[in-house]
Amino acid sequence: MNDTLFTVLCQRKLTDSVYEMKLSGDTSHITRPGQFVNLRLDGLYLRRPISVCDLEGETLTLIYKVVGRGTSQMSRLTAGETVQVLTGLGNGYDAALSGPRPLLIGGGVGVPPLYLLAKRLVAEGKAVRVVLGFNTAAEVFYEDRFRDLGCEVAVTTADGSYGIPGFVTAAIGGDYTHVYTCGPEPMLKAVYRAVKTGGSFSFEKRMGCGFGACMGCSCKTITGWKRICREGPVLQKEEILWED
Ligand SMILES: Cc1cc2nc3c(=O)[nH]c(=O)nc-3n(C[C@H](O)[C@H](O)[C@H](O)COP(=O)(O)OP(=O)(O)OC[C@H]3O[C@@H](n4cnc5c(N)ncnc54)[C@H](O)[C@@H]3O)c2cc1C
Ligand code: FES
Repeated sequence: MNDTLFTVLCQRKLTDSVYEMKLSGDTSHITRPGQFVNLRLDGLYLRRPISVCDLEGETLTLIYKVVGRGTSQMSRLTAGETVQVLTGLGNGYDAALSGPRPLLIGGGVGVPPLYLLAKRLVAEGKAVRVVLGFNTAAEVFYEDRFRDLGCEVAVTTADGSYGIPGFVTAAIGGDYTHVYTCGPEPMLKAVYRAVKTGGSFSFEKRMGCGFGACMGCSCKTITGWKRICREGPVLQKEEILWED
């Protein structure tokens, strides 16, 4: 873990409410795809956690949806401004579990952490299939970016306005060796029920400290209590205990 200043390089809007931000700084503590960073924003007591989307040398890419004060402040940052960022948080995805044909499933702003994972798996020669789920055509982002990596990509929209109509589960099929997923909890639960192999599931919880000190993000698993910020956000399928 490292607490350091990053400089905003650029921002662009991917959809009405989703932004891509590139920052430059010391990324050496980010060791795995699926980890997150925690940004300190002016006037806000709690930092805001955002997944690592991509990493190239000292350039860190984040994708975030504007939902409240913190993310709205992020969207107003311009090139050259600095942000205090805690890096290297969370366990991240274990690429060694993938097998030869991994299936990556992302929903909404659960898509970003799968990008760096896909990049790593493709570089290892894996046949990567990606399912990206959104509510509607106007919310779709990064479809081409995954395709440009060499992944086979399926997009689903809940309202049927683009790609395969329905939820991500409508596109789960074929022969896959491990599932990596991130998205809203109802989606994770549906994926859990639908998949036939082992899986790595990334969870979101409201966070306090973000690095294991406050216990605010604890959740019960089959193997005991885990802090989502420290022993997570990625849990293995066999340790997940759904609360209802
Ligand atoms: C490990 C982790 C990784 C994340 N990665 C991303 C990412 O890559 N891109 C992205 O857009 N978002 C991501 N999030 C969610 C992001 O942290 C929240 O949307 C953000 O903190 C909201 O801050 P805010 O001040 O704008 O909103 P607030 O004013 O704090 O809240 C606005 C609304 O968002 C809800 N909300 C806030 N934080 C969370 C949360 N952690 N989980 C669920 N609902 C929340 C609140 O209940 C409220 O309804 C991640 C969260 C975690 C825990
Ligand atoms: S947010 Fe403090 S322990 Fe996880």
